[in-house]
Amino acid sequence: MDYENGKKRKVRNRHQLKTQLLSLRYLIVCLCCFFVLLFFLSSGKVFTLSVRSDSLRPSLRVPALSVLSSMDSIHRSFHGRFPPLRVEDRVKFPDHLLLILSTRIGKGEKNLVCVYHGVKEETLALPAISTDEFDEFRSIARCPNAPLNFSSSVDLQFHGDLVKKTKKQKQSKVHNWEKVGYEAVIDGDTVVVFVKGLNRRPHKESDPSYYKCQFEIGKSDVEVLVTKAVAAAQEVVRCVLPESLKLKAETFKVSVIHIDPRGRSTPALPSVARINGSDSIVKKKSGRNKHELCVCTMLWNQAPFLREWIMYHSWLGVERWFIYDNNSDDGLQEEIGSLNGEGYNVSRHVWPWIKTQEAGFSHCAVRAKEECNWVGFFDVDEFYYFPTHRSRGSPSKNALRSLVSNYTSWEMVGEIRTECHSFGPSGLTTVPSRGVTVGYTCRQANPERHKSIIRPEMVTSSLLNEVHHFQMKEGVGHLSLVESVAVVNHYKYQVWETFKAKFYRRVATYVVDWRENQNQGSKDRAPGLGTEAVEPVDWKRRFCEVWDTGLKDLVLSSFADGVAGYLPWQRQLQEQE
Ligand SMILES: *[C@@H]1O[C@H](CO)[C@@H](O)[C@H](O)[C@H]1NC(C)=O
Ligand SMILES: *[C@@H]1O[C@H](CO)[C@@H](O)[C@H](O)[C@H]1NC(C)=O
Ligand SMILES: *[C@@H]1O[C@H](CO)[C@@H](O)[C@H](O)[C@H]1NC(C)=O
Ligand SMILES: *[C@@H]1O[C@H](CO)[C@@H](O)[C@H](O)[C@H]1NC(C)=O
Ligand SMILES: *[C@@H]1O[C@H](CO)[C@@H](O)[C@H](O)[C@H]1NC(C)=O
Repeated sequence: MDYENGKKRKVRNRHQLKTQLLSLRYLIVCLCCFFVLLFFLSSGKVFTLSVRSDSLRPSLRVPALSVLSSMDSIHRSFHGRFPPLRVEDRVKFPDHLLLILSTRIGKGEKNLVCVYHGVKEETLALPAISTDEFDEFRSIARCPNAPLNFSSSVDLQFHGDLVKKTKKQKQSKVHNWEKVGYEAVIDGDTVVVFVKGLNRRPHKESDPSYYKCQFEIGKSDVEVLVTKAVAAAQEVVRCVLPESLKLKAETFKVSVIHIDPRGRSTPALPSVARINGSDSIVKKKSGRNKHELCVCTMLWNQAPFLREWIMYHSWLGVERWFIYDNNSDDGLQEEIGSLNGEGYNVSRHVWPWIKTQEAGFSHCAVRAKEECNWVGFFDVDEFYYFPTHRSRGSPSKNALRSLVSNYTSWEMVGEIRTECHSFGPSGLTTVPSRGVTVGYTCRQANPERHKSIIRPEMVTSSLLNEVHHFQMKEGVGHLSLVESVAVVNHYKYQVWETFKAKFYRRVATYVVDWRENQNQGSKDRAPGLGTEAVEPVDWKRRFCEVWDTGLKDLVLSSFADGVAGYLPWQRQLQEQE
């Protein structure tokens, strides 16, 4: 249990009557602690900040004072940078530690060090890998994994601050990424919790009666509520939202309880998932007030390609963008900021969880449900294209939106599928300065896979999905468009420089060291490439069977500036170079 001893707990759940007796004991322990604390306070010795000068990290400032006797000196030691950094949770990934802070810090805060505590009470400070915002009330920081004989219970400090001594037994628990509740989102009268470690059959719905959700309310006065699950699949458990939490402008921790086949509850799984009760106030939009068409995507370091993709699809009628950002450090936030300044409606969601694309899409589908009739799930290198509009000479403006809106009143269509054409490097050797739609014009002959635009209202309550393939409610089907009406141009194999980065990303999704010979059967591997990121001699000529300038011609005739032939996203691309 994560509560500290000295904290009174209220337990509402009837199954936990015994705990109420225990809480009496806690109360006594608490009172004792209080008096001991009072004693120390009066003797002025409790706040001992010990400083390690032992040359582990020369960057740590060695102050003259090692014993501080009042709250006042503590304030001073933070150099006015109040509030201090509060690490709320730690999650251990194979290649880093994720720290979740209840303090707001921004993206790219350079001035932070991770402090590790060793077995012999020595401390080690290493620079933090990265920081970012997380949700409305938290931030994240990444730290290198603890070296041998150092605890993973890492603290975070501003570079130059005093190293605070932590007693070993007081170090907080570190959650293992294999077994932890990591996100939660309110959906009407329910909460959707995302959990690692339930070990369920893939691609199948689970029996919700094996699960319950536990809500922890309050910081000093922890109150626990338990509700039943109503749906479950993959990493998702959906539970009833306790009535008393609705509308409360407070945050609650949510975790999942597994019920074994004999009906016994196991202790709640560790969790870092939190919700804010206020999120249950839905600005209930009726179908007509919703955006007709939104897009969810997950990306990592593709900022230079975002502008063309958003401008083009906005022209096709996309009104709202949800970008799930997996630790980008290439100026994505700034790019999104400037697009918003130009009237596009784009939000960035920090998604630090590895190998969780399905969960990310489910999360996005829940969020988009309140705002959008239709949601497309496609990547930044994929572009919808309507060949017929061109042959008929009519412009494509808003074509995608009007296509989906033609089916909004159909109760039986929950998904619209469009086939993809995979484009090759098209003879290029450098990143095309006018954008991908104009640069790449040679593709493979046969379409491959398809992309989906779905109605979030119609997906099953368990949110069961296979990346962009959501299972729909009973009786709801999908519509497949024919190639001559609409296709997706997938700029899958771009110039080597771009492809290499994507290749690295793909492999990184599966193994920590991408040179390891794993996952060779994956569909996402380029045929014949193996695991080596070495440019094949004929790369620029590969994947080229049909020259297809359809989208290029459309883009040039609809977007290019009359005199100079500039495209609206072009300046941006050149700045990147
Ligand atoms: C870690 O601690 C163990 C036992 O205290 C010791 O034998 C070992 O040498 C230490 N390893 C390092 C790298 O310090
Ligand atoms: C919860 O959300 C409400 C409304 O957005 C906000 O005013 C409040 O500060 C949030 N509470 C916390 C603890 O973040
Ligand atoms: C973006 O969309 C949201 C939700 O649909 C809406 O509340 C908000 O006002 C929009 N923002 C802009 C800048 O249009
Ligand atoms: C949508 O329906 C309208 C009216 O029936 C039709 O004119 C239009 O071509 C359809 N749009 C698409 C993209 O299918
Ligand atoms: C996010 O990026 C990291 C590398 O920073 C990678 O290991 C991880 O698999 C990615 N996650 C997703 C969901 O793409």
